[in-house]
Amino acid sequence: VMATQDELKKLAGYKAVDDYVRSGMVVGLGTGSTAAFAVERVGMKLKSGELKDIIAIPTSVRTKEQAEALGIPLVTLGTHSDLDVAIDGADAVDPRLNLIKGGGGALLREKMVEVCAKKFIVIVDDTKLCAGLGPSFPLPVEITPFCWEHTLRKVAACPAAAGCEAKLRLGSAATGSKVDGTDPAVTDNDNYIVDLFFKQPIADPVALAAQLKATVGVVDHGLFCGMTTACIIAGKDGISVQTP
Ligand code: A5P
Repeated sequence: VMATQDELKKLAGYKAVDDYVRSGMVVGLGTGSTAAFAVERVGMKLKSGELKDIIAIPTSVRTKEQAEALGIPLVTLGTHSDLDVAIDGADAVDPRLNLIKGGGGALLREKMVEVCAKKFIVIVDDTKLCAGLGPSFPLPVEITPFCWEHTLRKVAACPAAAGCEAKLRLGSAATGSKVDGTDPAVTDNDNYIVDLFFKQPIADPVALAAQLKATVGVVDHGLFCGMTTACIIAGKDGISVQTP
């Protein structure tokens, strides 16, 4: 029988924990349907005693709630800013293992936590792989609500974003761009999200990342460039691991 997409996500999530998490580690817990399987695995292994003395930092309110329910001890970057490993999903992965993240709206906390990890392990099913970032999934940009229309225009005017269509995300931040709803989606940090829709691959993700970051009113964006230590990819023919 062929594995469902959910089963593939679970394979990748469990493997990341089995291969990279050891007792005593400080672990960053990602957000989304794939990362939830890694969180589940950490909880299982703590409960069984296979893992001991793990402390974790969640990347969203949702993940915090899941981890609490599983009894995983949690801390924050305020007291623990050196993580041994962070594990998270992604919305799109290019051949260099640059990522688009934030489909679930958690990109700011994800990036804050994941840049602090010695190893950042990305877990995906093979539908997330793409030849170039952009066309397969809109790029989320977290902006401050103050004069958001102005910031949306500034974002769309970034030279490296030429040709994109920028839209304020409506509805629930947690369900990505597929929602209908008439109010702006609000992130865990009380910000808004602008999604950038590209028809062509983003030619220079590193340049676009710098231009977005330099735009006043932008809090952060979903381009995660040069961060991935390893990407665990689950497909119908099994699991593979890629490194940059
Ligand atoms: C959350 O904001 C995102 O960055 C998620 O990590 C990403 O959307 C992957 O989610 P799924 O595993 O649910 O596809």
